[in-house]
Amino acid sequence: MDFFLFCLAFLTFSNFSTLHALPPNIVFILADDYGFHDIGYHNNDIIKTPNLDALASAGVKLENYYVQPICTPTRSQLMSGKYQIHTGLQHGIIWPPQPNCLPLGDPTLADKLTQAGYDSHITGKWHLGFYKKACWPTNRGFKSFLGYLAGSEDYVTHSRGYVFNSEHWHGLDFRDDLEPASNYSSIYSTHVFAQRAQQVIEQHDKQKPLFLYVPFQAVHGPLEVPDSYREPYMFIADKNRQIYAGMTTCMDEAVGNITDTLKKEGLWSNTVFIFSTDNGGQILDGGNNWPLRGWKGSLWEGGTHGVGFVTSPLLPAEVQGTVNRELIHVSDWYPTLVEGIAGWNLNGTKLDGYNVWDTISQGVPSPRIELLHNIDPEGAPPLQDGRLAPPSMTSPSSNYDTSTCNFTFPSAFNVSIRAAIRYKDWKLITGNPGVGSWIPPPESGLEPVVPIVPKGKCVWLFNIADDPYEVFDLSDEQGDVLQFLLDRLYAYQKGAVPVNYPDPDSRANPALHNNTWDSWE
Ligand SMILES: *[C@@H]1O[C@H](CO)[C@@H](O)[C@H](O)[C@H]1NC(C)=O
Ligand SMILES: *[C@@H]1O[C@H](CO)[C@@H](O)[C@H](O)[C@H]1NC(C)=O
Ligand SMILES: *[C@@H]1O[C@H](CO)[C@@H](O)[C@H](O)[C@H]1NC(C)=O
Ligand SMILES: *[C@@H]1O[C@H](CO)[C@@H](O)[C@H](O)[C@H]1NC(C)=O
Ligand SMILES: *[C@@H]1O[C@H](CO)[C@@H](O)[C@H](O)[C@H]1NC(C)=O
Ligand SMILES: *[C@@H]1O[C@H](CO)[C@@H](O)[C@H](O)[C@H]1NC(C)=O
Repeated sequence: MDFFLFCLAFLTFSNFSTLHALPPNIVFILADDYGFHDIGYHNNDIIKTPNLDALASAGVKLENYYVQPICTPTRSQLMSGKYQIHTGLQHGIIWPPQPNCLPLGDPTLADKLTQAGYDSHITGKWHLGFYKKACWPTNRGFKSFLGYLAGSEDYVTHSRGYVFNSEHWHGLDFRDDLEPASNYSSIYSTHVFAQRAQQVIEQHDKQKPLFLYVPFQAVHGPLEVPDSYREPYMFIADKNRQIYAGMTTCMDEAVGNITDTLKKEGLWSNTVFIFSTDNGGQILDGGNNWPLRGWKGSLWEGGTHGVGFVTSPLLPAEVQGTVNRELIHVSDWYPTLVEGIAGWNLNGTKLDGYNVWDTISQGVPSPRIELLHNIDPEGAPPLQDGRLAPPSMTSPSSNYDTSTCNFTFPSAFNVSIRAAIRYKDWKLITGNPGVGSWIPPPESGLEPVVPIVPKGKCVWLFNIADDPYEVFDLSDEQGDVLQFLLDRLYAYQKGAVPVNYPDPDSRANPALHNNTWDSWE
């Protein structure tokens, strides 16, 4: 056989075999406000997470893994593969009456996987905007949606309030595809989403690959859990922590139910299972990130250094049961899932994420050496879900006032701006990073450590590999590194799109939509 014919035969054979081997199913679980400290394998012997621990122990634990400090930003990067400076979502979350959503021009992760032949389903929290129907998950690549559109609500009634110009609004936020679903209003959301995920798996056409995205409501506030999950934790004196622990164990049980169903349906052997938090734990709602500094909403590690792991029988034996310390970011999932796992083409879509599949599955160095945490020119940090931390947990907020910024180092980048960037082991923070205290878990009996933040301080530099808890600020000692990182921030800033953070719209009032949260354009 001549060489050409040999090649032809080989190509034909390999095409034939790929026709018959389906790309892996992908199950992506996103926990909400789940703290770095709050999983068994992070030295937590109080909160029980047996299913998550077992899954992580059989897979690859990501221990240099980053997410964004709050909900919408992380979800936007997961679904777009882009930094917020490229989607206009730099500032805060999307509040229910804001006419805003993940920009409609570009394909979402679900669009791409659907193009690649997947059936894509979502059950849980969307939080990427809903002011017009084009923004809704079933118009963004998902075949089905059971869940809620905004950022938080009651776990059982599935309704939420909002104060608009001192008017109190209230409405159901729960949908089955596009339709309001009021018949779930006595069922705890973790049970609803687990059951729907199981149903999707059971009814899935096994001739096609499945993409199942489960962004749980758990373990975000409000603190609510059925009594049976709380009972094992009555010994925890801190009431928030006690309920949060029960919510976490319920979520862990839900994950166990979902993976059991994948096994029962014969899908597990060809499934890649990914677990991630969306941001750091919320201290004011029972979450904890000890020993990291700061928490949800801040640019400190406690806001951004997330819990995450990947597990799959498809992973080579050499990496099963290992810890991966390569730099990986939530924006990396888009190309990793599309190119790395589904074997599909990005077709020129310009992304900020990297395909890190070889890093996860073979342990090769991450293609990512730099990570823009964010540049938020709107300045003031979002409040902690509308609340301020108690004085016992934070330095005087006036000390974070960036108008008193006394930084004199020559810099094209305006260091009053809230921003952070990582390059290899170095991390630079500018502006007001948010609360930077070290908060031990309440059950430890240790006291919070509140740093002294001098008035006017607005630049911090850390070597995260040597100093993962951000104790030793090196901004006075490492001028060259400082200069380099400030220049990098300036370069990113020049390529940023304007912030899109529109005023709330009175047409969003649920009273105008049969007491549901609905689109209004
Ligand atoms: C709610 O109603 C929908 C539509 O009739 C149905 O498919 C679903 O099973 C119901 N769910 C519950 C929990 O009653
Ligand atoms: C898990 O499945 C069991 C058995 O069906 C059920 O009793 C339990 O409520 C489920 N838990 C969750 C969180 O879905
Ligand atoms: C790739 O992009 C081109 C140009 O945008 C488009 O015409 C084509 O349909 C795309 N192909 C796939 C497979 O997405
Ligand atoms: C800013 O002021 C604080 C407190 O006075 C001081 O610790 C810090 O070194 C000053 N920074 C610069 C760059 O002057
Ligand atoms: C720097 O940014 C701050 C906060 O956004 C702004 O108030 C200030 O005017 C800026 N300074 C300069 C020189 O642009
Ligand atoms: C309004 O909502 C109720 C359930 O809360 C439903 O029974 C009714 O059909 C809805 N009306 C319209 C016009 O959609």
